Amino acid sequence: MRSATVLHSAAVLLYSNAPPPPPPPPRINPLTGDAPPAPSPRSAVVLLCSNTTSHANRDAPPAPSPRSVMVRHTVPCLFFLGQPIARAGRAAHRGRALPRARDGSVAVVTGGNKGIGLEVCRQLASSGITVVLTARDEKRGSEAVEKLQKAGLSEIIFYQLDVTDAPNIGRLAHFMKARFGKLDILVNNAAVIGVEYVHDPVDVSVMSDKEFRGMDEHQMLEWLFKNIREPYGAAKQCLETNYYGIKHVIEAMLPLLVASSDGRIVNVSSINGQLRVLNEELRQELDDVDNLTEERLDELLGKFLKDFEAGEAEAREWPTVLSAYKVSKTTMNSYSRILAKRHRELRVNCVHPGYVKTDMSLYSGVLTPAEGASNVTKVALLPAGGPTGTFFAMGEEEPFV
Ligand SMILES: NC(=O)c1ccc[n+]([C@@H]2O[C@H](COP(=O)([O-])OP(=O)(O)OC[C@H]3O[C@@H](n4cnc5c(N)ncnc54)[C@H](OP(=O)(O)O)[C@@H]3O)[C@@H](O)[C@H]2O)c1
Repeated sequence: MRSATVLHSAAVLLYSNAPPPPPPPPRINPLTGDAPPAPSPRSAVVLLCSNTTSHANRDAPPAPSPRSVMVRHTVPCLFFLGQPIARAGRAAHRGRALPRARDGSVAVVTGGNKGIGLEVCRQLASSGITVVLTARDEKRGSEAVEKLQKAGLSEIIFYQLDVTDAPNIGRLAHFMKARFGKLDILVNNAAVIGVEYVHDPVDVSVMSDKEFRGMDEHQMLEWLFKNIREPYGAAKQCLETNYYGIKHVIEAMLPLLVASSDGRIVNVSSINGQLRVLNEELRQELDDVDNLTEERLDELLGKFLKDFEAGEAEAREWPTVLSAYKVSKTTMNSYSRILAKRHRELRVNCVHPGYVKTDMSLYSGVLTPAEGASNVTKVALLPAGGPTGTFFAMGEEEPFV
C-alpha cells in the first residue's frame, strides 16, 4: 500500500544546517494581494551532483538545523552547506533549481506522505503555493515528493516531521523562519485513529476491495467498528498525535503565521469531532468557548485517559467506539475555537474531509483521497477575510455541535 517508487530523480536540492537559499523575487500573493516580506541575508554553499539523495541529519543539535530537507527539481542537484548567498543564488539561477512560489505563499502540511495529506500537498502546489510536505518517515516522505515531482510539481520541499517529537517541531519552525520568514498556511492533517484493526492485512487496499465491495457507507462503518479493538497504548498515542501533536506544531508555527499577512490554520478534523459524540454536560462545557481554557482541555484529556486505562470509559460516559479518536478531535476543535478567538488576525478552521478511502479507513469510504483533500484545500484557500473559528464538513459550514 505504500508507494515503492525508487528515487531516480536527476536532481535534488538538499539543505543542511538550515542554510536557506535566496528567496524568490517578490510576487503578488493571490490570497492577499500583498508582496511577500523582504528577504534577510543568509549564507549557503552550492555543490553540484547528479543523483537523488536524501540526507538525515539525525544527530544535529535540536534548535538550529533541519533534520532533513529535500527539494526536487529536474535540474542538477545542489547542496547548500554554508557559503555566501550571492554565490548560491547565481549557481541556483544557472541551474534554475531553487523553489520559487509562483505567488510567494508557503504552506506546511503534516502527514503529507499519503492519503488526504498527499493530495492536499498536490492541490496546494498546483495552486502555485510552495508546499513543505512533512512526513514522520523520511523514505515515505521522499517518495511522496518524488511522486509529486513526477507529476510536474516542483515547488515541493520535504521536511521530516513527527508531530509527537517536540525538538523535531522546533527544528521545522527554525527552518521555516530561516527559509521563508513566515508561514501562510498550516494544514494539520497528520493523525492516527487510535485503534487496532483485528484484521492485520498485508495490503489493506487489496483486502478492502474484497471486504467492502457492494457495501453502503453504513455497512462499511459497521464492518469497521466490529473489527477494531482499542488498546490503551493506541488511545494514548491518539491523543498525543491528534491533540498534543497538532497543538505543539501550532504553537511553534504561530509567530510565523502571524508574520504572514493572511495566516491560516486548517485542522483536519472529523464529524467524529462534533460535540454530539460527547455527553450533554461535556457538550455544553466544550461549546461554551468563551469560558473554556486550554488547562481545562488538558484536565479533560487526562481524565479520559485515566478512565480509559481503568476500563471505566463507558461508565463515565465517554464515547464508546473510536473513543480516543472522538475525544482527540472534539478537544482539537475546541482548542481551534479558543485559538481563533485569541488570534483574530488569523483564520483558524476545522474541516471534516468526508469518508475517504485511505489507510486510516482500511480503504472503505466513499470519497477518493483527492476528493477528500479538495474539501480541505477549499478551506485553506478561502478568500482573505473569510470565516474563522468555523467547522466545515464536506465543504459546507456546519455547527461544532
Ligand atoms: N479517511 C477518512 O475517512 C477520514 C475521515 C475524517 C477525517 N479524517 C482525517 O483526515 C486526516 C488524514 O487522514 P487519512 O485518512 O489520510 O489517513 P492516513 O492515510 O492514515 O494518513 C495519516 C497521515 O498521518 C501521518 N501521521 C500519523 N502519525 C504521525 C506523527 N506522529 N507524525 C507525523 N505524521 C503522522 C501518517 O504517517 P505514516 O504514513 O508515517 O503513518 C500519514 O501520513 C486525519 O486527520 C484524519 O483524522 C479522515
